Amino acid sequence: MARAIIIFGGTGDLSRRKLYPALYNLHARGKLEDTVILACGRKELAREEFEKKITEFVKPRSNQPPVSAFLRQVHYHSADFTQASEFGGLYRHLVELAPGKREVVLGYLAVPPAEFEPLVRNGMKTLNDSQRQRLRLLVEKPIGTDYQSARRLNRLFDRFVGERNVFRIDHFLAKEAVENLLVLRFANRLFESAWDRRSISSVSVSFSEELGVENRAAFYERTGALADFVQSHLLQVLALLTMEEPACLEEDPIKNAKVRALKRLAPLRKEDVVMGQYTAGKVDGKEVPGYTSEPGVSPASKTETFVALKTHVRSPRWKGVPFYVMTGKRLDKNEGLITVRFRPPTACMFTPGGAEHGHTHEYSGAKGFDLGNSRLQIQVQPEEVFRLRFNLKTPEEKLSIKPFSMDYCYSCDYLYQRLPYEKIFEDAMSGDRTRFSRSDEVELAWKWVETLKEKPALHHYAAGSAGPAAAKEWLDHLKD
Ligand SMILES: NC(=O)c1ccc[n+]([C@@H]2O[C@H](COP(=O)([O-])OP(=O)(O)OC[C@H]3O[C@@H](n4cnc5c(N)ncnc54)[C@H](OP(=O)(O)O)[C@@H]3O)[C@@H](O)[C@H]2O)c1
Repeated sequence: MARAIIIFGGTGDLSRRKLYPALYNLHARGKLEDTVILACGRKELAREEFEKKITEFVKPRSNQPPVSAFLRQVHYHSADFTQASEFGGLYRHLVELAPGKREVVLGYLAVPPAEFEPLVRNGMKTLNDSQRQRLRLLVEKPIGTDYQSARRLNRLFDRFVGERNVFRIDHFLAKEAVENLLVLRFANRLFESAWDRRSISSVSVSFSEELGVENRAAFYERTGALADFVQSHLLQVLALLTMEEPACLEEDPIKNAKVRALKRLAPLRKEDVVMGQYTAGKVDGKEVPGYTSEPGVSPASKTETFVALKTHVRSPRWKGVPFYVMTGKRLDKNEGLITVRFRPPTACMFTPGGAEHGHTHEYSGAKGFDLGNSRLQIQVQPEEVFRLRFNLKTPEEKLSIKPFSMDYCYSCDYLYQRLPYEKIFEDAMSGDRTRFSRSDEVELAWKWVETLKEKPALHHYAAGSAGPAAAKEWLDHLKD
């Protein structure tokens, strides 16, 4: 099928680190035949300079073709698309490169969020109906900076592009461990039957990063950890963990179930939220500056680089179960971890006082054990690991019960998985919207973040630590 992929922001950080490696893999798998890729940026770039940007993070494996063949498919166009007049030149360039009719045109918005609106308005005005129908607009998160701006953008997309042709990206939804949440929950009787308040005592979702703000200060200063990470990625994970089973594995039933789950999240209370900002410290043995000394950050900045929060789900399934959510930059590790803690068994012979409930046991001296350790952990990154921890006895003479772990390293078995952005491009090319967010999901996520009416005090933490001391309750919950 003849296609064109136009990447607005094709020289930026996201494109270089994520999009070109994914596109190269698709090229290597023969999925980009008769496809022209046109990368756009504002700066004039010599071909050599542009190629350097594209190939910086493309690392072919020994069985993959050389990058040069891929490079022949990728072209550059420089223009400032806040100027409507620039689109004529872009279309002429596209036609020159690919004279025949393109059946599908992907327009990828990898530009700063403030550029979305002018770009869509200017770009869409110049298209005729047939061209509009063939366009699929891929939009990076975050959609807007708050509920109102997200709503405005969604209306704009709907008016100019049409909801069916808008593909809102949250690359977490293309991570294997995240995709596996539904399979784990609904394809295993073991978990399906235990997935509620009767069996689960708490759930935590944490994403720690060693990286600081890097070169994204301008964006991060206005956003912070809550709006950048929790509003999108972590709420998607919470929705998948707490939703009811969709009627079938199709786009709308899945999204409807997620939307219902988001609606059931209890509003955020200031006392359930801890925010922090990193100061200078050592990460991986290297001295690093504090957030306010990073280039582009105001020395008086109050932006949070860490957030830990507790919430509940207002449904019979989850009544009384706390959900702990944490994310932060410049922490002591790079790790994404979901932990589901199971309750101890109901009064049994091994629990304290169990015998008094009518159970007896033949082990003399067994006074009862702390059996609250069973848990399921899903490590999303750096490796994808599924870990089940449960109680067993040790072989000693005197009864001793201890937790043991059973690990399945998913990414050790599947060494070469498709990259999340590879799946995103493939789905968008085929028109499968399941992995993309619908407008109401995005708006509800913003709405929920905004239930926090007042930001709590900002606590400092040294770079390379686990986070601020004030977040002890959260951090204790995240400990192994
Ligand atoms: N970086 C990430 O890890 C990441 C992760 C998730 C989501 N995102 C989202 O992805 C988008 C891009 O982020 P980024 O970090 O790649 O940004 P970036 O490094 O600042 O790159 C921005 C790109 O947009 C181009 N651009 C900006 N204004 C333009 C205009 N008016 N006309 C044409 N081109 C324009 C820039 O071209 P010039 O350089 O020539 O000006 C550059 O190619 C943002 O919406 C961000 O929120 C980024």
